[in-house]
Amino acid sequence: MEQSQLTDLLGQMTLDEKIGQLLQITGDFYSDKAEERTGPMTQLGLDEDDLANAGTVLGVTGAEECRKIQTAYMKRNRLHIPTLFMGDVIHGFRTIFPIPLGLASSWDESAAETMARVSAHEASVSGLFVTFSPMVDLVRDARWGRVMESTGEDPYLNGKLAAAMVHGYQGDDLLADTTRVAACVKHFAAYGAAVAGRDYNTVDMSERQLRDMYLPGYKTAIDAGAKLVMTSFNTVDGVPASGNRHLFRDILRREWGFDGVVISDFGAVKEMISHGVAADERDAAKLAIKAGVDIEMMTVCYLRHLKDLIVSGEVPEQVLDESVMRILELKNDLGLFENPLRGADAEAERTVVMSKQHRDAARRVAEESMVLLKNDDATLPLDASRKIALLGPAAKSTDLLGAWSWKGQEDDVAALDVSLREAGIQVSTVDGDFDYLQPSDQAVEEAVRVAKDADVVVLALGEPSYMSGEASSRSDIRLPQAQLDLFKAVAAVNDRIIVTLFNGRPLDLSDIQSAKAIVEAWFPGTEGGRALADVLTGAVNPSAKLTMSFPVSVGQVPIYYNVDNTGRPYENDPEGKYVSKYLDVSNYAAYPFGFGLSYSKFEYGEVKVEDHEFDADNPLKVSVELRNVSEREGTEIVQCYVHDLVGEVVRPIKQLKGYERVTLAAGESRTVTFTITEEDVRYVHADYELDSDPGDFDVMVGPNSRDLSKAVRVHLF
Ligand code: GLC
Repeated sequence: MEQSQLTDLLGQMTLDEKIGQLLQITGDFYSDKAEERTGPMTQLGLDEDDLANAGTVLGVTGAEECRKIQTAYMKRNRLHIPTLFMGDVIHGFRTIFPIPLGLASSWDESAAETMARVSAHEASVSGLFVTFSPMVDLVRDARWGRVMESTGEDPYLNGKLAAAMVHGYQGDDLLADTTRVAACVKHFAAYGAAVAGRDYNTVDMSERQLRDMYLPGYKTAIDAGAKLVMTSFNTVDGVPASGNRHLFRDILRREWGFDGVVISDFGAVKEMISHGVAADERDAAKLAIKAGVDIEMMTVCYLRHLKDLIVSGEVPEQVLDESVMRILELKNDLGLFENPLRGADAEAERTVVMSKQHRDAARRVAEESMVLLKNDDATLPLDASRKIALLGPAAKSTDLLGAWSWKGQEDDVAALDVSLREAGIQVSTVDGDFDYLQPSDQAVEEAVRVAKDADVVVLALGEPSYMSGEASSRSDIRLPQAQLDLFKAVAAVNDRIIVTLFNGRPLDLSDIQSAKAIVEAWFPGTEGGRALADVLTGAVNPSAKLTMSFPVSVGQVPIYYNVDNTGRPYENDPEGKYVSKYLDVSNYAAYPFGFGLSYSKFEYGEVKVEDHEFDADNPLKVSVELRNVSEREGTEIVQCYVHDLVGEVVRPIKQLKGYERVTLAAGESRTVTFTITEEDVRYVHADYELDSDPGDFDVMVGPNSRDLSKAVRVHLF
């Protein structure tokens, strides 16, 4: 439709029809089975007219199902405006990729884009038009269950990966390419900073910190063209995001120029009453519409009260019209007025969803996402000639998809035991399954007997997927006690243990440090068992690196690499008493941001800069010679960090400003070069202006955020 036609359409809409467009309800309201529809309708107090006007639908898939709902809906809608199907395709639709915290460990934007591209293709033929992804919440607290859904603790890397996902979801021409879906950046904003890592808890930080560290990732994704933004459940500076005019009207829309749709999180508008910021639903509606929230997900504050707010003049109808127009424009950008079902195609659904090509892509990304944390005595790769035991609760588990895998099916998953056998590795296991939390004594005894008789033990441990994700915060981030007991019992009879981990958060791994090798496999998705087998057998050389610090203990949390300077840095006086440290644990992560090993061995030469001075017109050129000094081709993620020595406000002791995945043959060397611009070293000043300061910087390069080269001092003019 032309814009003028949209304006005409808006002009024909009644107040009720306009307000209806702002409501999102789940698909069960449209079930053709009355018994499925009646309950939800009664619960929300909706009638058939409300259903005929509700603008969008949450959580329905299936080309046939969507066709049925859309056809009936457009008949009932007086102006035949199409509805819009949205859902949570977070890291795969039916072909599930590694959880985002795992995928991020690849540091590979093309992997992120591939995940999104495949997800969009499967979702679109299944009738979805919008996905609630990418989640770009910066995270520093492993107690929070939703770290699994994030890409980690660095704003620069988060932005790069989120932008790649937006492009994978939307492509270059969303209107024409009906195999794509619109992306929704979430959760705006700073949901990952929940106090104490407890989900839905308060977020409280300075606006400068918010702008400097937490907002840039979202902005990069929005600048990449994301069509929607979702509000977060938390407060930002005391105001719930869904009623936060400063956050949405001032920053998102005025400063950043975002003119897409803002959708609330599930029930978040009405939850402002629980926050104690709205007195009632009418108040909540007023706060949300004035903040610029266009779609209210699954509560009816707008439906019940917006008309009265407009008739009374408390809310100008123009404000409502702007929201409605943004929703109509989104439907138009998706081509729904001409093609109300877009890419939905029952035939394609049968061939595209879970295609071999998609599963192969998921396997490749999973292989790139697994982090080798330890490998003493070259215990890995496995030697097929040795007697290998495969034990532990995850040995035969298909719980590899993670908490946000929605349409993913465990039946599609090949467990690790099956996968190792497929790879030609004969393993001895125990009969029956281990429980993740309470294995029977008999199972433990049997495991110890098998372990005693083996040359090496692969001990497959981890969290059940329900222990991470939404509403799944943990105060203790160790492996479940029963698994630690099992580790101890096996270690008592065999010290050659390889631990593999399926989990959704950084864990405190201090109890398993006697393992010879540790592989962090995350929730690796549909092909994750096969991918882990590929890494264990050496068919794949691991290259992944952590994007979120693993603490020594939960007492260190929140822990992250890009900490601010303090007035009494531990490093200045490690033996001193009056310095910033703990009495009982180090300041440092057990496995820091950027850490990951390989079966190859890489050596770094001296870091060189073309010129020690740079300015807005003459960027810094930083280079280092990287050598693969092993017998095996491998990929190294080379990282470049910058330390701004003096700022108007305190600056982090280091910040990632560049990275490159470099694949080198055995013995090969290559010079890796990074370009650091004046723009790269801008930061948010006390007056919230984003600017750089002339002055000295230290530049460092290395394999992770801890083991860095000797700093090279440079000067910005
Ligand atoms: C959930 C999540 C959000 C998701 C939405 C719709 O509560 O917070 O990430 O997109 O509801 O399912």
